[in-house]
Amino acid sequence: MKDIQTFDALLIKNGYNRISLMNQETPLVHLRHLSKELDTEIFIKRDDLSELGTGGNKLRKLEFLLAEAKSQRANRIITVGARQSNHARLTAITAKMMGFEVDLVLKNSVPLDTESYQLNGNLVLDNIVDANIHEIPNDGTASTFISNLAKHYASEGETVYIIPVGGSNTIGGLGYARAAYQIENQASELGLDFQHIALASGSGGTHAGLVAGYLIMEKKMFIHAYNVQHEREPLLRETHDITNQILDIFHLKNQFASLNDYLLSNEYVGEAYGIPNEETLKTIKHLAKTEGIILDPVYTGKAFTGLVHDIKKGKFPKGKPILFIHTGGTAGVFAYSNWF
Ligand SMILES: Cc1ncc(COP(=O)(O)O)c(C=O)c1O
Repeated sequence: MKDIQTFDALLIKNGYNRISLMNQETPLVHLRHLSKELDTEIFIKRDDLSELGTGGNKLRKLEFLLAEAKSQRANRIITVGARQSNHARLTAITAKMMGFEVDLVLKNSVPLDTESYQLNGNLVLDNIVDANIHEIPNDGTASTFISNLAKHYASEGETVYIIPVGGSNTIGGLGYARAAYQIENQASELGLDFQHIALASGSGGTHAGLVAGYLIMEKKMFIHAYNVQHEREPLLRETHDITNQILDIFHLKNQFASLNDYLLSNEYVGEAYGIPNEETLKTIKHLAKTEGIILDPVYTGKAFTGLVHDIKKGKFPKGKPILFIHTGGTAGVFAYSNWF
């Protein structure tokens, strides 16, 4: 399926609607300094500059997720994430714009008790839009908490739509399957032919969406994901499941037959989710000083560090351009003020 119109039409025919949260294409630009430094042409897709709520990859997922919530006539959205979740922030802002009530279940999963981590960054934006925030411990009780909360609202006559962590499920993944078309369109306008894309992966939806998108488009693409949390096998399984479910909609078989077909590096996670190491901080400073682009300490800082190391190690073929997807997280930087 070569064009986005056919892709969109098939989704609509199958009942997958989309609301528009992104009126403009995000820029796809060349990294001049880094490309020279690494003797490799590196480009960056600025999904961090998507237009709402300080931007980020989740807007593409929310276009489909919130459309489904509307079609189910929900009046309230519940979602879950870490205290500084970018996904929670963008869900809160866009859902409020569309008239939903919003509950964010925020897990205390990152052991940082600085004032900036606890109160600044994404939290400020969650509060600006008056999201109901539920702080819970990181002890495996999130799903019970959410189901009790949903039952409580249902008993009061409300219709609740629950968005999983990171917006990563089949519906959310469609956002990045669709993004593949935008990337290809922009690349061809620039006279580029990417065969390698690099990005951060946390809950798998972005990675899975892109894999599915390129399979639907029938273009061979190596998608190098960098895990930002330690669990590799469960993330791979989740990525595979979402890929398969998206492909099912298009009646396609996944050519990624086994988990080993996905490129997912665990080498640059560092100590834990939400904890940047020296190398991550150095990368963030370097890209800010050379290109004026701000990466975040939780996702893109780690993934970009991985990309630079892997280029230096010769893991990418020489002479081929690489596209890094900047998935956002800018607001989260302010939660790490004491690290810089
Ligand atoms: C800035 C940023 N980059 C990357 C990701 C990872 O995306 P996914 O959860 O789809 O793997 C997230 C998810 O929260 C994010 O906030």
